[in-house]
Amino acid sequence: MKTAVVLGAGTMGAGIAEVLARAGFETTLCDRELSLASRGLDRVKASLEKAVAKGKLASADEVLGRLSVAEGLGPVSDLFIEAVFEDIELKKRIFGEVSARSEETLLGSNTSSLSLTEIAAASQGPERVVGLHFFNPAPVMALLEVVRAEQTSPATLDRALELARRLGKTPVVVRDVAGFATSRLGIILGMEAIRMLEGGVASAGDIDRAMELGYRHPMGPLKLTDLVGLDVRLAIAEHLTREVGPQFSPPPLLRRMVRAGYLGKKSGRGFYRWDGDQALEE
Ligand code: 3HC
Repeated sequence: MKTAVVLGAGTMGAGIAEVLARAGFETTLCDRELSLASRGLDRVKASLEKAVAKGKLASADEVLGRLSVAEGLGPVSDLFIEAVFEDIELKKRIFGEVSARSEETLLGSNTSSLSLTEIAAASQGPERVVGLHFFNPAPVMALLEVVRAEQTSPATLDRALELARRLGKTPVVVRDVAGFATSRLGIILGMEAIRMLEGGVASAGDIDRAMELGYRHPMGPLKLTDLVGLDVRLAIAEHLTREVGPQFSPPPLLRRMVRAGYLGKKSGRGFYRWDGDQALEE
């Protein structure tokens, strides 16, 4: 595989495009409007410049030379990764359209919890569909959760595992059950931490410190929710509540914050106030 398209130029899409371009793919980052794709590219540029400054990357220009932006679905490519908002109908429509353009493209979705089987059923050549779940920040996190839809063929799974190795990620293969292996556990921790904050158990900073220092988590569950996006975590929690059970039901505080536009790091405010990469306790 030489060429890749990433659809959805938000935090995850931009991170995935960076990983692909750094691994040698000619990569097009796409969104419904060109300005959104360009904003994603700006994020990649900033990240590459940081990597160069730290001596982890020889040249940002070489990687940027493999990156372009486009509006809509972009060109036909060897690899397609969808990283749009968690909306099953939107994803089904996208896979229906992209799968009709070529029989060769490997069709991956970065969904955190939605059914790959349902997405594959909306695609032509559903055996080519596979979950490629990356983690934020994508250039740093070592895991690629590979999700096997009912229709995913052994050849597609092999291609996905080979891709993980090429990207320098360690794959785990998971059956297509709601929340897979990662979101199912991660969301429980995140929702419980928000309930604890709501119940006045401790401050956001202290709840996070407890898990960072007491359990050696690299980042506490509230700061992590800020990093991932409160809106993203709310959508996953609602889906898991419907599919698995009430243990995932999102606390009212999370809903209120999303309604207020406090979406975490990307909006400058969540459980912390954000000054660039710096989380400031309220
Ligand atoms: N892009 C690129 N590199 C980054 C980065 C970013 N956004 N953020 C941090 N880094 C790099 C730093 O440059 C640094 O590199 P170095 O060691 O070579 O100098 C390294 O990562 C460590 O960063 P810092 O020293 O600044 O800070 P930390 O040691 O606290 O690490 C962290 C930051 C990697 C984000 C760490 O706190 C962490 O692992 N947090 C948990 C992240 C996590 O759990 N992600 C999963 C979220 S769930 C998800 O994504 C699923 C989705 O479906 C919702």
